[in-house]
Amino acid sequence: MADFVGAVDQGTTSTRFMIFDHGGNEISRHQLEHQQILPEAGWVEHNPVEIWERTRAVIETALGKAGLGAADLVALGITNQRETAVVWNRRTGRPYYNAIVWQDTRTDRIASALDRDGRGEVIRRKAGLPPATYFSGGKIQWILENVEGVREAAEAGEAVFGNTDTWLLWNLTGGPDGGVHVTDPTNASRTMLMNLETLDWDDELLSFFGVPRAMLPEIRPSSNPDLYGVTRATGPLGGEVPLSGDLGDQQAATVGQVCFGVGEAKNTYGTGNFLLLNTGNELVRSRHGLLTTVCYQFGQEKPVYALEGSIAVTGSAVQWLRDQLGIISGAAQSEALARQVTDNGGVYFVPAFSGLFAPYWRSDARGAIVGLSRYNTNAHIARATLEAICYQSRDVVEAMENDSGVRLDVLRVDGGVTANELCMQIQADVLGVPVSKPVVAETTALGAAYAAGLALGFWTSTDELKNNWNEDRRWLPSWTDEQREEGYAGWKKAVQRTLDWVD
Ligand code: G3P
Repeated sequence: MADFVGAVDQGTTSTRFMIFDHGGNEISRHQLEHQQILPEAGWVEHNPVEIWERTRAVIETALGKAGLGAADLVALGITNQRETAVVWNRRTGRPYYNAIVWQDTRTDRIASALDRDGRGEVIRRKAGLPPATYFSGGKIQWILENVEGVREAAEAGEAVFGNTDTWLLWNLTGGPDGGVHVTDPTNASRTMLMNLETLDWDDELLSFFGVPRAMLPEIRPSSNPDLYGVTRATGPLGGEVPLSGDLGDQQAATVGQVCFGVGEAKNTYGTGNFLLLNTGNELVRSRHGLLTTVCYQFGQEKPVYALEGSIAVTGSAVQWLRDQLGIISGAAQSEALARQVTDNGGVYFVPAFSGLFAPYWRSDARGAIVGLSRYNTNAHIARATLEAICYQSRDVVEAMENDSGVRLDVLRVDGGVTANELCMQIQADVLGVPVSKPVVAETTALGAAYAAGLALGFWTSTDELKNNWNEDRRWLPSWTDEQREEGYAGWKKAVQRTLDWVD
């Protein structure tokens, strides 16, 4: 048997390919960014062809760095930015339009109409999601209504939809002449089109968005012993490798953090933050603004569900300091700048650039920096940005505790922003619980590799995977309760301002 498993992690800002050994250790990686296309305020697009080219390049480079080839890989897993919608032609392989990204708010009218006539309640009940611009359904509807020829092509079965997992699986297995058209329940559960109980597309939900069933991929288990397909030999792997794992990136990180037990949770800090709590085979309906989503489905086992708190803007607020305000030259500098002050100097920053996601679900909210006085400097803005990442996570943790009745005793973290020591210390302070990071912090790619390897017996059980998890770093709370509650009260006031802005 070959010794390694590969995983493609197709994220919002970049695509990476990683190779892991049986101990879950990283053997090689390569990563490339792709362009963020911002044609209008609130619109965010990606070029799917560029994403596929970057995927090819990162696979070839990571394999080359390690001196490995297709024969060394037992299996390949895919994980991806969720919700982002691609529609392409089944015959030519050409996209009809750029991918509409999860952060894009152009479908706000579509989303708000759903709540005016009762359809919203059906979506909440069947799909576990509040109607919002975030999810794929409205994005597909927008493409069907606004891009010439797509509606007819979709009805004729020629135009097909996929999130970026489906797009990459299609290209890896067949290319322009047609590959497999598949997805998994974790990705499908982010579309507003899948019924959480049947794990199938739901005709009533499809009718809400006017989406023909023929456009949609087949839903297969996230860890799939029957395989989605094999890579074609002329592709970037240069040989046939079984494709046996597919998970949305946040669910993959939950698997990579080995949160297999009911009540186990992780928080991933990327462009946004995503906190998932494993609720086992039980579908828990949130009463406090969280999503109900599929956590994973391994083979023929019953699906495992999660409660999720999605936060749209966290790491991307740091990018905004760099790209739009120009007060830092790189993400790492946000820490150095914020360390110049000992507190936020009264400043709160609510980065509601895509409205506010969990637990507020207000797509009309807009960002605000409040509490400024002449005394404040760039350093306070940087500190307030890091605090915003942590306060938004506290909002979600509170909702989760209220929904589940379980008090968090430690927060498992991963993702790029966890390299920011100050931010993780603030997180422990703001929550009042320890924050713990594993040695392999690339839990998203690792989770996809685990799903792929479990399917083919490279790993035999989730218990075996748990042994691979080791703590690297732990941050302990240092604030008094009084400091914590005062700080949080200030944050809640600031959030209220971003909601009042539009009332
Ligand atoms: O739901 C959006 C999420 O999947 C995006 O994750 O890491 O690409 O920002 P990321």
